[in-house]
Amino acid sequence: MHLVRLLYLSKATNGLGVSGIEALLLSARRHNLQAGISGMLAFNGEYFLQVLEGGRSEVNRLYQRISTDPRHQELLLLQMDEISERLFSDWSMAYVPSSSLTRELLLRYGVSDEFQPMLMSNHSCLGLLTTLRAQLAVV
Ligand SMILES: Cc1cc2nc3c(=O)[nH]c(=O)nc-3n(C[C@H](O)[C@H](O)[C@H](O)COP(=O)(O)O)c2cc1C
Repeated sequence: MHLVRLLYLSKATNGLGVSGIEALLLSARRHNLQAGISGMLAFNGEYFLQVLEGGRSEVNRLYQRISTDPRHQELLLLQMDEISERLFSDWSMAYVPSSSLTRELLLRYGVSDEFQPMLMSNHSCLGLLTTLRAQLAVV
């Protein structure tokens, strides 16, 4: 079984509030633990950027489920690579709220201080998530 990392972005459909996100994370973390999947989800109320790591079949299956979820649309698969080690192994699904998407961080990885992952390269998207991961680790 090969380890892979998948990165995608999407746009939330209307009406997904904070309680909706909490419910989503609760079930995602439960499932991901069972399936050996780790990752991180960033959400600013409009766009999602998510990284999933795990076995190739498990990540494929999960992405297929996620892609039919009506809570978001306009999914764009950014990358799916075989990896030799995980970057997010400590989290079944770490969550990054918009308050953590600071102006400084967004300007470091993007062309503006707004969270618009479709205007960022795959490399910058992963760079942003990796930097956020390092911040989580020190908290
Ligand atoms: C942005 C977003 C991210 C999601 N991330 C995960 C995830 O990491 N793990 C997971 O099991 N479900 C995740 N889900 C939920 C799945 O789309 C799906 O609802 C859930 O896996 C239950 O699937 P089922 O109803 O087919 O059992 C996510 C949904 C959205 C909208």
